Amino acid sequence: MKKPQLVILISGSGTNLQAFIDQCASGELNAEIACVISNKADAFGLERAKSAGIQTATLSHKDFDSREAFDQALIELIDPYQPDLVVLAGFMRILSAGFVQHFLGKLINIHPSLLPKYAGLNTHQRAIDAGDSEAGATVHFVTEELDGGPAILQAAVPIHEGDTADILASRILEQEHKIYPLATKLILEGKLNEGQAFYEGSALPASGHAYP
Ligand code: GRF
Repeated sequence: MKKPQLVILISGSGTNLQAFIDQCASGELNAEIACVISNKADAFGLERAKSAGIQTATLSHKDFDSREAFDQALIELIDPYQPDLVVLAGFMRILSAGFVQHFLGKLINIHPSLLPKYAGLNTHQRAIDAGDSEAGATVHFVTEELDGGPAILQAAVPIHEGDTADILASRILEQEHKIYPLATKLILEGKLNEGQAFYEGSALPASGHAYP
């Protein structure tokens, strides 16, 4: 039987992508990465995909006149793979309403904050500046509201005195690499409606709910 198909979108280093590559290879995640697409030709994640023998594509937003035109071309690139999920893994683009609607329910993202806190950029520094005692990451479905779709899984880490944004980011990334493939597994296995998804003490409504 064909494994569930993933298309993963990246713009950069691709450490989350690597977690998916590793877990698909080990069988921990029963899925196949059909293609990795980057909007930046020099994204290191493309090298990670190639090393793993995964098909790659680059589609530069700079070649398009509008966000809508780029997103339409992206849809046309993704659709032939008929993915079960489109996974945003450090894809640094705001997506148009048309794109989000096209993949609604199949489009997921990871955001480096304990949403609904700190949607948008510079999440780590904002958490430090606010004097928060913890930070974290959230896997969520993508809707038209930026970083505002229903949460799937969340992991929290402590913020220590003297933490810089970089130190905090790497502490959070370690958790991202666990919860993102795990959330994907839960979705693909249809387990989101069986109560709550837990990870290391964090719990969130598991699907179809707005944030509490
Ligand atoms: C991660 O911090 C993720 O939460 C955010 O973008 C970053 C991607 O990192 N959406 P990487 O490219 O997976 O290393």
